[in-house]
Amino acid sequence: MVRVPGKVNLQLSVGPKRADGYHDIATIFQAVSIYDDVRVTIKDPDAKSAFDISISSEHPTAIPTDKSNLAYIAAEVMYEKFELSGSIEIKINKKIPVAGGMAGGSANAAGVIVALDSLFSLGLSRDEMQEVGATIGSDVPFSIAGGTAVGTGRGERLTPALTRGQYSWVLATSSSGLSTPAIYNECDRLREGMSISTPQLSESLMQALSTADAKALGKALQNDLQAAACSIRPALRLILDVGMDYGALGGVVSGSGPTVAFLASDEEHALDLVVALTSSGVVGNVLRASAPVVGATVIDR
Ligand code: C5P
Repeated sequence: MVRVPGKVNLQLSVGPKRADGYHDIATIFQAVSIYDDVRVTIKDPDAKSAFDISISSEHPTAIPTDKSNLAYIAAEVMYEKFELSGSIEIKINKKIPVAGGMAGGSANAAGVIVALDSLFSLGLSRDEMQEVGATIGSDVPFSIAGGTAVGTGRGERLTPALTRGQYSWVLATSSSGLSTPAIYNECDRLREGMSISTPQLSESLMQALSTADAKALGKALQNDLQAAACSIRPALRLILDVGMDYGALGGVVSGSGPTVAFLASDEEHALDLVVALTSSGVVGNVLRASAPVVGATVIDR
């Protein structure tokens, strides 16, 4: 079984739309201790290639189990690239919010890549697995890498970030997700007519991470997709206000949302924030997480 973490983006700066429809971004990913478990088993080694996906979750989900699932695409890509054969079963236990801006779909693709590497003894390096991941989705390489990393290009080009310390996060999740392409489109619409420069890494954020300064990190959190997510889901503004009113060091929409990530000064503060956000009545569900954590990891065979 492979355990794969979700992520939050501490910074997400978005450049203009590229000719291929993507946007160049400068982002800092941090892997958080909320995990999906991906178990891949061989059903029949002599059968035709077939991928049977099943999903379990505490909350009802409408995740497709066909070719539109990133885990399915990951299996297809791995089978073709490494000439694998046989039918497999892919069981996913979901804890990462679905369509929540926390790379839940990417985590499942990452889990399949790492699981197939192990199951078929392919002996791939992390870099090689991340390269395969990049062909499946922009966030898949980071789901494999974990930790804290700078992402450039469409987010798939990674360099580890120099960080110290462990951070306490409180995540306000929503029961209905947001579509990433729709949020990028809305971001373009809101910025129409403006000149958009090449995205740059935030120096104050990198400085905060390298000195483990949670207060400074809270102030430096930043996401260019936040305005778009709030435009489509106005309730997110209220959630951000409530978290800040209750003393979060900082709050930001994660990725394309709708999850809102609040930074707490320590575990106790995080617990206080959970209670405040839960009792406010404006938040669907509240989770606590510690970060950074390692990326996709085989935890048993
Ligand atoms: O790479 P991924 O499949 O996760 O991207 C989903 C969609 O999000 C893309 O089709 C694109 O519309 C948008 N996107 C983008 N720029 C990025 C990453 C994603 O425009 N850097």
